[in-house]
Amino acid sequence: MKFAPLHPVFAAEAQEIDLSRPIGRAAVAEIEAAMDRYAVLVFHGQDLTQDQQLEFTRRLGPLDPGRHLAVRQQRRVRPEFADVSNLDEAGRVADRNHRRILSNMATRLWHTDSSYKQPAAKFSLLYCGAIPDWGGETEFADMRAAYDALPDRLRAEAEGRSAEHYVHHSRATLGFAPSPEDIAGAIPPATWPLIRTHAGSGRQLLYIGSHATHVVGLSVPEGRVLLQDLLEHATQRQFVYAHRWRAGDLVIWDNRAVLHRGRRYDLSQPRDMRRSTVEDALP
Ligand SMILES: [Fe+2]
Repeated sequence: MKFAPLHPVFAAEAQEIDLSRPIGRAAVAEIEAAMDRYAVLVFHGQDLTQDQQLEFTRRLGPLDPGRHLAVRQQRRVRPEFADVSNLDEAGRVADRNHRRILSNMATRLWHTDSSYKQPAAKFSLLYCGAIPDWGGETEFADMRAAYDALPDRLRAEAEGRSAEHYVHHSRATLGFAPSPEDIAGAIPPATWPLIRTHAGSGRQLLYIGSHATHVVGLSVPEGRVLLQDLLEHATQRQFVYAHRWRAGDLVIWDNRAVLHRGRRYDLSQPRDMRRSTVEDALP
């Protein structure tokens, strides 16, 4: 396996590996070490069935059930996956007002997967089956580099503070109201420090994003303004890698180390994407 950097501070393309075949322990260790360094790995030209993707995902840790704990829906893909396509249960392009299309619209906002629960997500593995003619890039922002470049005053304000993250918050900010059943069954909010230490690399980083509702110990408005300032700092272009998808790409990112967002695309064309997720199991 070889790793070719894609950006000055993070992200690399992994070459000379076929993920549809069983992956040995040495290769898993190599991928984990590369994840600690690059935080985002791109694998081109992968031809993966759902089973093969899940088999590889499980080699990296326990599966994260994500929102399926709280939200029941008809499924196009196996229940272990998050369906981030614009396809309906029958595999056709869904109406742009389909409830899941509207719900997935929240993925356009900078976030880190499953930060609304404990444990949150460690790795996400997003596989691309088909892409529309325009848009749909996934952008990643390196929260380690963003932390390193924090202005002193902003760092001092964030130090020792935590934010609460809630499963329905990012959707609510777009005006997508959860149903009464969704609210009743919601995962309890999770609280995370704004500044954390990355277990694999020992680096300090910012842990923020659009699931964060408020900063503990500050008024809601003051906390949200602080979160907004941190987000604006952390998503400056020098910290961002934009991935332009090709069919057959698998991209893995470390949710502890990067924020991500999907970009808008032509909703009338199929965008076939499925995500498997590894939980950040607590020791
Ligand atoms: Fe996501």
